[in-house]
Amino acid sequence: MEELISRAAADLARSKYAVALTGAGMSTESGIPDFRGPNGVWTKDPSAERRAYLAYDKYLSNPSAYWEERLSTPSVLGNLGDYLPNPGHYALAQMESFGVLKTVITQNVDNLHQTSGSQHVLDYHGNAFKLRCPACLSRYTLDDYDLAELRQARHLPPLCNNCGGPLKPDTVHFGEPIPPDVAEHSLEEAGLCDVMLVCGTSAVVYPFAELPRLARLRAKVVIIEVNAEPTPLTIEGISSYIIKGKTGEILPRICEQVERIKKG
Ligand code: APR
Repeated sequence: MEELISRAAADLARSKYAVALTGAGMSTESGIPDFRGPNGVWTKDPSAERRAYLAYDKYLSNPSAYWEERLSTPSVLGNLGDYLPNPGHYALAQMESFGVLKTVITQNVDNLHQTSGSQHVLDYHGNAFKLRCPACLSRYTLDDYDLAELRQARHLPPLCNNCGGPLKPDTVHFGEPIPPDVAEHSLEEAGLCDVMLVCGTSAVVYPFAELPRLARLRAKVVIIEVNAEPTPLTIEGISSYIIKGKTGEILPRICEQVERIKKG
């Protein structure tokens, strides 16, 4: 493992444009369960995943019923406001502060990359602390609306202050298009990078899992996986190499060596 950590640090230190792609495996060491790992939310309760596949159609067909159900059902991830970043998040934020990491494209909705100090974060599957208007792409924080009061007054769904359309949580549901602004920016980043650090994702959900495949079309791109287990990216040879283990342990060790190399 030490040799691979040194190799990753060298690849990142000499990169011109490194980006990180992250998944739920970044946040398990903060206490947030992942989805498909041994203790994953979908692994332990497949019916919860089936229900999650119905959410977007519910929003489209009856936004007020969707919101009524949403506000009366606890999130499968618990109260995301209770969790803190772990050393893996801070390592990515530090590598951004060295000017090595340009962007984090995350599937996680927990806002922990932002909380740990990462400035350039693309919330590919949205952000649990925001609301979004699918019609005009306006985004709001949860504080901008008193959802409990709207529910009490039977005035759900919350309506967009810009266009009047029904708002939804910024979190992207299965079957829902990735917000075009985020999708476009993510494609640009995947097209610009010469090193891609893929951390804590099973890489089975599309279109996110397409991003490393797009980067691989450019032979010179180094794609580094940091994950507890091999993924289709490993098996299909999309990634250049995998460092198997915990993101919260491996990323700080990579970051430490990158800092040493950059400081000469
Ligand atoms: N360190 C490294 N890898 C880890 C750790 C850890 N501490 N904890 C878990 N993992 C690995 C798991 O073994 C698994 O391979 O991270 C991966 C997490 O995969 P998933 O649970 O499938 O999560 P993710 O890839 O983010 O899922 C993508 O699916 O349900 C949707 O919208 C949801 O964004 C999510 C998307």
